[in-house]
Amino acid sequence: MRILVGITGGIAAYKSANIVRLLTEAGHSVKVLPTQNALKFIGSATLEALSHNNIDPDLYTQVADVKHIKLAQEADLIIVAPATAAFLARYASGFADDLLTNVLMATEAKVVIAPAMHTAMWDHPATKENVKTLTNRGVHILSPEAGRLTGNDTGVGRMVEPEDIVRRALLFSEGVDQLVGKQIIIAAGGTREVIDEVRFIGNHSSGKQGIALAQAALDRGAEVTFIAANIDLPIPNVQRLIRVASVSDLDNALQLAFDSADAIIMPAAVSDYRLANPIEGKLHRSENPELELHLLSNPDLLSELSKKRISSKKPVLIGFAAEVGSDDQVQSLESLAKKKLHGKGVDAIVANWVSRGVVFGQDDTEVLVVTEGHTTKASGSKYDVANTILDSLYTLLEG
Ligand code: CTP
Repeated sequence: MRILVGITGGIAAYKSANIVRLLTEAGHSVKVLPTQNALKFIGSATLEALSHNNIDPDLYTQVADVKHIKLAQEADLIIVAPATAAFLARYASGFADDLLTNVLMATEAKVVIAPAMHTAMWDHPATKENVKTLTNRGVHILSPEAGRLTGNDTGVGRMVEPEDIVRRALLFSEGVDQLVGKQIIIAAGGTREVIDEVRFIGNHSSGKQGIALAQAALDRGAEVTFIAANIDLPIPNVQRLIRVASVSDLDNALQLAFDSADAIIMPAAVSDYRLANPIEGKLHRSENPELELHLLSNPDLLSELSKKRISSKKPVLIGFAAEVGSDDQVQSLESLAKKKLHGKGVDAIVANWVSRGVVFGQDDTEVLVVTEGHTTKASGSKYDVANTILDSLYTLLEG
C-alpha cells in the first residue's frame, strides 16, 4: 500500500520514526511529510533513512510537478501522527497553508489522525468541535491516551503508541471501519453486592469478552465507553472508562450513557439479587452460628433500557446469556437465547454454555449470536468472537 505519513510539530514527533519503520518493514511504500515545525522535533535525515524517500515539506518546490496533487493522488492511506491542536483546527476549517494541509484537502485516501497535546488543549471546546467536524467527514481520529505528558502533568493527551497506530490505521484502510463515529457502550465484568464490609456476593466473570469487544470496536473506529465492573485485567485505551462495583452503580452509569449511545453491549454478569439490609461492620461466626440472608431482586437492567427506548433500535441493545448445558444441545441454546431476546426486548443475545470446560476467564470461546430471524455460530479467540458480534451489530445499526 502507498502510505503518506504526516507529522506535525509536537514532542511526540520523535515517536513517528517508529511508525515509518513499522510500515516500511511491513512492506508498504512510505512517504513522509513533516510540517516545518515537526522538523524542530525530528530530523529529516532520520525520516529519509527510514522511509527510503526524500523529505521536502516545502509547498513551493517542484511546483511544475503540482506536488500537492501528486502526493494526494498517490496515497492510498494518510496517517497524521502526532496531530497538534493547531493542525486539527487548520484541517477542520480547510485552512490549507502548508503542503500537508493542501495534500489532505486534495486527497481521496482514507485519513487516520493521532492527536497529541496537553489535556487542557484536548478538552478545549475548539478542539472538541474540530474533532467532531473531522469525524463527521469520515476521518478516523485515534483519541489520545491517558498518561504522563510533557512537563510534570499527567492526563489524557498522549499519542496512541506507534504499534497501535499502525495496526488500527491498517485495519481502517482495509475497510474494517464500519463503526467510525458510533458511540458504543460496553458493560463488562461482574457486579458485587455487599454482604458486610468485607464480604460480597459476586461471580466468576473476568471481563475478557468485554475487553475483546472494546478492542475490536476501537479497531473499527467506534468511540467506546467501557463500564468495568470489578475487572482486574488491563483495559484498552477507550475514550471513556467508568469503574463500577454494584448493580446500582452499573445502572447509574448506563442511564448516563443511554441518550448518546448508538449501541449498548452487555457481557457483564449482573447480580440478580442484593441484600435487603447490608450489614454494617463485619459478621462474626461466633455470633451467628447459622445465617440467613434476606435477598431482594435487582432490576433487569437490559429490560429497563429496552423499555426506555423511544425509537425501536436506538440504541441497539445486545445482551449475553451464559447458560448451563452442553454442546449437543445447540437447538436448545438457540431457543433459550430466543426466549431472552424476546423477554428482555433486546436486538441480539450472545449465548454460550458455561459448563464443559468453556468457562469464565478462558481466552477462547464458542457462542451463538441470535437476532430475530438469524443465528450465527462463532468460535475462536474472544477477539474473533467480538468481531462476529460487531458484524451483527453493524447489520442491526444499518437497520
Ligand atoms: N442482565 C441485566 N440485569 C440483570 C441481570 C442480567 O441487564 N439484573 C443482563 C446481563 O448483562 C446479560 C443478560 O442480561 O447481558 C442476561 O443475563 P442472565 O444472567 O443470563 O439473565 P437473567 O435475566 O438473569 O436470566 P436467568 O439468570 O434467569 O437465566
